[in-house]
Amino acid sequence: MKIAIVPGNGIGPEIMRQAMKVLDALRSNGLRFETQEAPLRGEAIEALGTTMPFATHALVKEADAILFGAIGASSLDRNEEPDLLAPERPRSALLEMRRDLGLYANLRPVKHIPELAGASPLRPDLAAQLDLVVVRELNADLYFGEPRGVSGAPGSRVGVNTMRYEEHEIERIAHAAFRLARQRRRKLCSIDKANVLETMALWRDVVRRVGESYPEVELRHLYVDAAAMVLLRDPGSFDVIVTGNLFGDILSDQAAMMMGSIGLSPSASLGAGGKGLYEPIHGSAPDIAGKDIANPLGMILSVAMMLRHSLGDETAAGRIEGAVRRVLSQGLRTADVMQEGGRLVGTEAMGNAVAAEI
Ligand code: IPM
Ligand code: MG
Repeated sequence: MKIAIVPGNGIGPEIMRQAMKVLDALRSNGLRFETQEAPLRGEAIEALGTTMPFATHALVKEADAILFGAIGASSLDRNEEPDLLAPERPRSALLEMRRDLGLYANLRPVKHIPELAGASPLRPDLAAQLDLVVVRELNADLYFGEPRGVSGAPGSRVGVNTMRYEEHEIERIAHAAFRLARQRRRKLCSIDKANVLETMALWRDVVRRVGESYPEVELRHLYVDAAAMVLLRDPGSFDVIVTGNLFGDILSDQAAMMMGSIGLSPSASLGAGGKGLYEPIHGSAPDIAGKDIANPLGMILSVAMMLRHSLGDETAAGRIEGAVRRVLSQGLRTADVMQEGGRLVGTEAMGNAVAAEI
């Protein structure tokens, strides 16, 4: 397996270093793979005039899997002026990569971690119910719809983005979600805003129709506002959630935080082939970059997802997940999930501990 390593910027490089320690530990246990690092830094804009250097483009195209850290704020990206067009923003390189590689199904599992009971902002009885996967559509919606942009003279400018879904885009994500639900507790909740948006009425209609081929899966539909509420009131009622790009972005942050920290949450972005892009769901967190306080576990658990989905190596994936739980049960905690009785460690120490467990 060829793995493209794309650390990105912000906390990306430091959490990626921990993921590499974990991969090295598996390598010395016999796992075979090749890695090659690819730059995709915000700084690449200044140096190369592009967020996605050609070499990186070629590398991610030919890799079997891409391990991605985080991308976001560079000096340019922090400039939120609307006339700085999307293609010049570093984070657009991530969106480009997701779309160019046809990685349309973004799986974001969220599961209660008993070792971290008490770190969740939820009441313990509710937190304990958490065991769901958000299947977020990743190639369409407001993220990519045209027309888009800001036009007009200052004072009377108009901003436009377009929520757009083609029927086949809804169909394929619905199939991915139904297939996953079939392997789990056979419950699928589709989240939309069909009461207001035509695009979302189409979404609901297509998901319902695809559902006819999966009679063994119980399908329910929720509007996104109600879903945000039910997620807090009754998290145990969710097994698989399928939703669009924007709602999935929002709800997956909410669900991840319900575990105790967004820093714990891995993801897999899959397409039609076996290729996948694996990244934690958090961003580049420039405010804590370089301070050795970021939680590397979302990144490390993304390696487990990579081994499971792109390599089909359930054993190696399980070893990583087991090592993470053992380290947590030894009391090691990064600052985001620190509680009384825990042992506060930094990013590097947490990575070392997980690698040592493996
Ligand atoms: C995510 C992130 C990205 C997104 C940003 C960094 C572009 O929030 O992966 O959830 O909005 O998809
Ligand atoms: Mg997000």
